[in-house]
Amino acid sequence: MNAIMVEKTRALRGDVLIQGSKNAALPIMAACLLIDGVCTLTNVPQILDVDCMCHLLKLCGCKVERWDHTLTIDTTGLHCCPFPTEEVLQMRSSITLLGPLLSRCGRVEMSYPGGCVLGERPIDYHKSLLEQMGVCFWDTTDGFGASCDRLQGTYLCMPFPSVGATETAILAAVMAEGTTWLYGYAKEPEIKALCAFLRKAGANISEFGDTVLQIEGVNRLHPITWKIPSDRIVAGTYMCALAAVGGKVRLQKAPEKELEALLTKLSRMGVTISKDSLGLVLEHSGRLCGIPFLETGIYPGFPTDLQSTMLVVLTQCKGMSVVKEGIFSNRFHIVKYLKALGACIEQEENMAYVHGPTAFTGIPMKAEELRGGAALVLAALVAEGNSRIENISYIKRGYENLVSDLQGLGGRLWYAS
Ligand code: EPU
Repeated sequence: MNAIMVEKTRALRGDVLIQGSKNAALPIMAACLLIDGVCTLTNVPQILDVDCMCHLLKLCGCKVERWDHTLTIDTTGLHCCPFPTEEVLQMRSSITLLGPLLSRCGRVEMSYPGGCVLGERPIDYHKSLLEQMGVCFWDTTDGFGASCDRLQGTYLCMPFPSVGATETAILAAVMAEGTTWLYGYAKEPEIKALCAFLRKAGANISEFGDTVLQIEGVNRLHPITWKIPSDRIVAGTYMCALAAVGGKVRLQKAPEKELEALLTKLSRMGVTISKDSLGLVLEHSGRLCGIPFLETGIYPGFPTDLQSTMLVVLTQCKGMSVVKEGIFSNRFHIVKYLKALGACIEQEENMAYVHGPTAFTGIPMKAEELRGGAALVLAALVAEGNSRIENISYIKRGYENLVSDLQGLGGRLWYAS
């Protein structure tokens, strides 16, 4: 099934259970490489990026077993290997293998990581941090090689709080010789999850104020069992679906605190938000109001991963809204489809000006990246007639059950070939 058909949906009603977090699971799977023995991860989402990471772990000698949402990773047979380009190109998270493999094997060869095309996504921060810890890099025909003797702890100052580069530095530092001080690091919840996992396995990581992480290298980490936290971006996607379509939805296991930036905006726009013993309840009927200005930013700012879904919501709101993309240089792929559906949007560089509300009429569309793909499904739910969305493997990279979860809420959509 490589397409999703969607019909106009008048309201979403019911409960939805939030899956485990992709962006927490992937670096934690890479972190298992640091641990000699068998780690067990639970609540792991069944998504294509996790399949891809399992494959990469197997290529470097790990035994990986999966049943339902539980994953065991046995690193007893770990060895250094050049990774095939095709696999590495499938996702950005391939780069999280770099720190652990340098730590355990002292050498890595891979191509540059792929992932969603959201503008420039270099790995210069990752390289510079590792170089300061004693790593040498060289170019290969289709990527790069890296090697080191034992990684050395040092003072590291990040030029920007990049999520991926923070993960690389932490993963390299936990078993390095001596102490690493990491200044200006990213504070996204997925970083907190990675540190919590590593601490439980025996890593020595302390936060000083809000500015520096101190990581004292240890010689050994021990195997543990760990539950992957809920996915804040999937929860946010369903909140945006409710805001776009209307109705009443209860999100079970939604990480409310991590979604404060989105919940504050939705509440100002007119969505009623409450809590009961089973989860977070969002409700609205009628028209929401637009927001004068929304800018995506580092945590706890508004997440860039919810910019596209929010853009869809704003097309259905009264008045003009302005959206500024503050993280990636090219994350407005869906604007051309929203305009073709009927939206009134002007976009210039990293700014979008939305005049709403506008009625949508269904059209054929193609997902071009993960979060934008999910946003197209939301846009199709508010469009009269049928929409067909192709290239849905992008969506399956991060959403375990987008179609069945929305169906469970009364959404009129289904898989098609
Ligand atoms: N950047 C550089 N050089 C680097 C690294 C980053 O210039 O070496 C720039 C990027 O080009 C970008 C900015 O720094 O403009 C932020 O990038 P960051 O490194 O923080 O992002 P990432 O690690 O590549 C992760 C998530 C993204 C999420 C961003 C921002 C994973 C696997 N990916 O990407 O999630 O949008 O942080 O929060 O954790 C998604 O899940 O769909 C997704 C794209």
